Amino acid sequence: MLTHFLSLLLGVLTILVLIQAQDQSGFISIDCGLPENSSYAETSTGINYISDENFIDTGVSNKIPPPLGNIILQQLEHVRSFPSGVRNCYRIDVTNGTKYLIRASFFYGNYDNLNEPPEFDIHFGPNAWDTVKFTNLSRVVMSEIIYTPSLEYIQPCLVNTGKGTPFISVIELRTLNNEAYVTYSTKSVLSNFFRYDLGSITNLRYRYKDDVYDRLWFPFKWDEMRNLSSNEDILTQNIYKPPGIVMSTAITPFNVSAPIQFSWSSDDVNDQYYFYLYFNEVEKLAESETRAFNIIANGKLLYGPEIPAYQRVHTILSTAALTGAGRYIFTLSKTDNSTLPPILNAMEVYKLIDFSLSETQKDDVDAITSIKKNYGVAKNWEGDPCGPVKYMWEGLNCSIDDGLNPPRITSLNLSSSGLTGQIVSSISKLTMLQYLDLSNNSLNGSLPDFLQQLQFLKVLNVKNNNLTGLVPSGLLERSKTGSLSLSVDVELKSSP
Ligand SMILES: *[C@@H]1O[C@H](CO)[C@@H](O)[C@H](O)[C@H]1NC(C)=O
Ligand SMILES: *[C@@H]1O[C@H](CO)[C@@H](O)[C@H](O)[C@H]1NC(C)=O
Ligand SMILES: *[C@@H]1O[C@H](CO)[C@@H](O)[C@H](O)[C@H]1NC(C)=O
Ligand SMILES: *[C@@H]1O[C@H](CO)[C@@H](O)[C@H](O)[C@H]1NC(C)=O
Ligand SMILES: *[C@@H]1O[C@H](CO)[C@@H](O)[C@H](O)[C@H]1NC(C)=O
Ligand SMILES: *[C@@H]1O[C@H](CO)[C@@H](O)[C@H](O)[C@H]1NC(C)=O
Ligand SMILES: *[C@@H]1O[C@H](CO)[C@@H](O)[C@H](O)[C@H]1NC(C)=O
Ligand SMILES: *[C@@H]1O[C@H](CO)[C@@H](O)[C@H](O)[C@H]1NC(C)=O
Ligand SMILES: *[C@@H]1O[C@H](CO)[C@@H](O)[C@H](O)[C@H]1NC(C)=O
Ligand SMILES: *[C@@H]1O[C@H](CO)[C@@H](O)[C@H](O)[C@H]1NC(C)=O
Ligand SMILES: *[C@@H]1O[C@H](CO)[C@@H](O)[C@H](O)[C@H]1NC(C)=O
Repeated sequence: MLTHFLSLLLGVLTILVLIQAQDQSGFISIDCGLPENSSYAETSTGINYISDENFIDTGVSNKIPPPLGNIILQQLEHVRSFPSGVRNCYRIDVTNGTKYLIRASFFYGNYDNLNEPPEFDIHFGPNAWDTVKFTNLSRVVMSEIIYTPSLEYIQPCLVNTGKGTPFISVIELRTLNNEAYVTYSTKSVLSNFFRYDLGSITNLRYRYKDDVYDRLWFPFKWDEMRNLSSNEDILTQNIYKPPGIVMSTAITPFNVSAPIQFSWSSDDVNDQYYFYLYFNEVEKLAESETRAFNIIANGKLLYGPEIPAYQRVHTILSTAALTGAGRYIFTLSKTDNSTLPPILNAMEVYKLIDFSLSETQKDDVDAITSIKKNYGVAKNWEGDPCGPVKYMWEGLNCSIDDGLNPPRITSLNLSSSGLTGQIVSSISKLTMLQYLDLSNNSLNGSLPDFLQQLQFLKVLNVKNNNLTGLVPSGLLERSKTGSLSLSVDVELKSSP
């Protein structure tokens, strides 16, 4: 399920702000399809967007035609589409061990003049991230996760599932506080389900610069509730740093004894949810007044009593995932002796998505990437080499991801692949190789000694090339004892 549907016009309604040198450290803002080397500061936020050219080798740049193209947010004007290849991937350098909010946005805008938006999948390295669907042509579809990379790069991929050409508009990364949004599950990540600003009197969507983490807070209209607001600044923040403007408003029931109640339904009872409820007392209470309430989910007390403090942000969050129900009903109801009804300023709910597949072992990725570059391999070599199995790189085979050890490349078959030049040393860095087939290419030079380092090699085929010189003695020996099946051209074997 995709998270937010943001109205096209919101961007136009956003108040213009002065662009100054602002702290965007930890931001990577990529406008997909923007011409190479271009960049700009978007006028409503001042965010610096750059072209995606340096992050991807495939796909084509397209522009949303007028009149739509003239009125949308600048970062939506271009898209990169992927008419060829099943899986196409970006590679974006990140700081590993740092928590990121990662958001992909898709705005169709009939860029291809087909009037038919596609449906496709997005992956994150070896893991499935989301399915992108469009229910309304003039809406922006977004998908957002909170993820701590273990490698120094991430690979968001677009996957063609046979329902039209995948495309993408924007990729945004923002570093978060590592102590915020903690889950108690190592093999899954938080995917934003909804994020609302309650009691908004402007009806605007807020993001950077109001939000230092550039989360998108959507106004939620709640008919049975009264809007409360304050002009006072927040004095005490917490690590979640919700925007002051979002925390300066809240909803409260008209009926003093009524609760605040909201719910969502879950497609699968095994789905796991994490919630974050934000409180800030926006009214200066009189001596005789008290506001205290309990927070109950599906009949179970989660927290209480919550007594919001004036100008001080308090966040109530999951200490464990909510799971096991088809519907989650939250009730905020005042305690018996509270004189005032409950309030709620903002809320976020995330769903856990399974990211249990490991990326291919790093040294193997580095080696195979270097091999790809060296020979200009023209195959579907995009994204993680081994995972998911369905999209494993053509010509490779890998050890199975057992959940403990990352997959390793065990077989490399580049026979009949038009390789020229010498056998490159990166091949010897694929230390778990059992099968190496380089037959029927135009490789020249010698059969290098470094191939002897491949201690698990069972099959080596370099027939039908232009190799010269001696077969390294270690390989010859292993072939004699029968541990290696060696296929070389006669010329090579019989060299003096
Ligand atoms: C982009 O910048 C690079 C490096 O400065 C340069 O080699 C390349 O020609 C530029 N491309 C365009 C389209 O200007
Ligand atoms: C980042 O990756 C490097 C190389 O893979 C590793 O040595 C280092 O421990 C990682 N750092 C963190 C914080 O995960
Ligand atoms: C699509 O969204 C726009 C703007 O929110 C709305 O005006 C329009 O009626 C919607 N169209 C459909 C077919 O739902
Ligand atoms: C709360 O404010 C919003 C935005 O100004 C408005 O649409 C809504 O009607 C207000 N709610 C009530 C109950 O007044
Ligand atoms: C106010 O809420 C209470 C508790 O939900 C309910 O019993 C009562 O009927 C409500 N009063 C009005 C006037 O709606
Ligand atoms: C009101 O309730 C709170 C907790 O529910 C309790 O600590 C407090 O003593 C109560 N106050 C009165 C006046 O009953
Ligand atoms: C690929 O490797 C797996 C074990 O990792 C093995 O079961 C499978 O048969 C191999 N496939 C091919 C085509 O060699
Ligand atoms: C490599 O692939 C070719 C077909 O492309 C196949 O004939 C050959 O047996 C493969 N080599 C190995 C070692 O599996
Ligand atoms: C060798 O490769 C060429 C193309 O590079 C191909 O046409 C030919 O069929 C291949 N021969 C064998 C025996 O695989
Ligand atoms: C090997 O092949 C490369 C590329 O085809 C060529 O530039 C080079 O001269 C060749 N070297 C030898 C020793 O034939
Ligand atoms: C090997 O090299 C010779 C010339 O040195 C050339 O004529 C021939 O085409 C080459 N063969 C391959 C398979 O590249």
